[in-house]
Amino acid sequence: MPSYIDSILKESRVLYPHEEFSRNSHVKSMKEYSKIYKKSIENPEAFWAEKADELEWFKKWNSVLRNDHGFFKWFEGGELNASDNCLDRHVKSGNANKKAIIWEQESGKNRIYTYGQLLKEVCRFANVLKKKNVKRGDVVQIYLPMIPELPIAMLACARIGAIHSVVFAGFSSDALKDRIQDSSAVMIITADGSYRNGKVVSLKDNADNALKECPTVKNAIIVKRTGISINFVGGRDCWWDELMKEKEISDLCEPEKMHSEESLFILYTSGTTGKPKGILHTQAGYLLFASQTFRYIFDINNDDIYFCTADIGWITGHSYIVYGPLSNCATVVMYEGAPTYPSPDRFWRIIEKHEVTIFYTAPTAIRALAKEGNEWPNKCNLSSLRLLGTVGEPINPEAWMWYYETIGKKKCPVVDTWWQTETGGILISPLPGATPLKPGSATKPFFGIAADVLREDGSKANLNEGGYLVIKNPWPGMLRTVWNNPDRYKKTYFEKFGVYLTGDTAHIDEDGYFWIMGRSDDVIKVAGHRIGSAEVESSLVSHRAVAEAAIVPFPHEIKGQAIYAFVTLKKGFDKNDLLKEELRSHVSKTLGPIAKPDKIQFADDLPKTRSGKIMRRILKAIAEGSAEYGNITTLVDPNVVKILAENREK
Ligand code: WT7
Repeated sequence: MPSYIDSILKESRVLYPHEEFSRNSHVKSMKEYSKIYKKSIENPEAFWAEKADELEWFKKWNSVLRNDHGFFKWFEGGELNASDNCLDRHVKSGNANKKAIIWEQESGKNRIYTYGQLLKEVCRFANVLKKKNVKRGDVVQIYLPMIPELPIAMLACARIGAIHSVVFAGFSSDALKDRIQDSSAVMIITADGSYRNGKVVSLKDNADNALKECPTVKNAIIVKRTGISINFVGGRDCWWDELMKEKEISDLCEPEKMHSEESLFILYTSGTTGKPKGILHTQAGYLLFASQTFRYIFDINNDDIYFCTADIGWITGHSYIVYGPLSNCATVVMYEGAPTYPSPDRFWRIIEKHEVTIFYTAPTAIRALAKEGNEWPNKCNLSSLRLLGTVGEPINPEAWMWYYETIGKKKCPVVDTWWQTETGGILISPLPGATPLKPGSATKPFFGIAADVLREDGSKANLNEGGYLVIKNPWPGMLRTVWNNPDRYKKTYFEKFGVYLTGDTAHIDEDGYFWIMGRSDDVIKVAGHRIGSAEVESSLVSHRAVAEAAIVPFPHEIKGQAIYAFVTLKKGFDKNDLLKEELRSHVSKTLGPIAKPDKIQFADDLPKTRSGKIMRRILKAIAEGSAEYGNITTLVDPNVVKILAENREK
């Protein structure tokens, strides 16, 4: 067990919201929270209908919620447009000059888009998409770094009813190819390159490689970000700038009237088995949920400056850089580059420069920056901050306290927000003006969320007893299906208990607080990134030297978890460090650098049951250096365990 889980179990501190913060917040006390929560659970349809009224609709819905054989439908009969709700609505209500996006470049320059300017850019690009023959319901692949063209492209898709599928720009060409092939995208939007740690990284080459095997993609639009030379494919490739400059492209584009349950976007994420699954989110429910959770959990006010460090290539960026903040007419800081460029105070400098009031980041970043020493944040003026947030993996109480004391100066509540790509928005989190905080706990479920912890047999776990974290009722932001694979949707999420299975383990304490313990499946959270063991294993096995591979997590001081690989070689290959390095870079090339194993151990044999199943629980214990293997008598050869443990990679 990672040491921070031990410390979480022993955690007993409670920190109460400051009176002044509570007085000015949307929900001011636990009493108020409990009252609204109770109402939302007793009559979810009335609760969500009232909230949905706050969005702008072309046509109101007929039914709030319908269960269509296990597929949930929200606000059927209604029509709206997400880009209209994020842009036009605010421009019409007098906010055309309010800052929407403050884009901080890695170089330190910035560019600002007001709501009025953003609307114009989105309309122009929507018209470009139309000119390129993108139709309502088509999938558009987006493979861009953290530049404003990324949210502009997403909102332009939303405007014309195209489905965006964003792939994180740090993913390799193979990963991109798999996702395009699964989604059958008709177009890709990418850039020549991106800036990272002061260096230029090529992106277009990756896209070109992927497109060799993606015949559905007819057009590519390329943003010129770095000016590096690229291979320009005539008839397919066009420059973003040139298309946007064309005289015939208008500043106006009527938003499509989208049905509530039409697709808004696909976002691929890793699961237990096989290739990544395309999580599908639809129009109205997703937007409503992103919008409401953002408003309450980040307690947004008109003059807040909100900075989220996530990449838009992940769900955090979709919901809490783009749709949540913009639908609330908030001002968002979006940062292009690396957290430690040119020095480890980059985030703190950004907070000082733009007078950020709300800051949202991941535990892995907090741990890494804490390790750099307090002199970095202490040199900066962080007095504008009033609220801090974290997401992506369990936060250890030490990191939580450092964040609270050194960054928040003990005056900013910390919202530890638990959620997933599938959930569309935050499900378990404090409400900053109401919830007493316990470092390491995501605290209580959001309105309308019936979270619980179950035992293997489906019965309710006791207080403080670990079990499967489930959500017992549908909510508007939930995934609607797995793209192209409705069976996988049902199997993965509903087969085990008949209610939504999160894939996480947790326990609930005597105050009803949720403590997330980690994944219950073969997903590994490396520095907050979600990596499927099966994907890394098949990447390793695709190398000519590898016969078999098994991947497990081990605790890592900064990343939370890191990847440990047990690898069996084919005959004729030498076990040496050079080959280990080659395997690591092979994974990096085929999947992306974030999936690179930290440790590789060559093994002649792996612990298998008589039916041939690799016992990962045993490998996990070995990787952690623990001798608590559990029962090993069912193994074909129990001796394997001892040999592996003796040769453990330290
Ligand atoms: C998994 C989902 C949702 C945004 C980013 C990740 C873990 C997420 C927390 C938290 C403990 C957390 C869970 C979850 N996780 N937030 N506050 N405390 N664990 O999205 O890539 O879909 O990963 O991240 O294990 O299942 P994702």
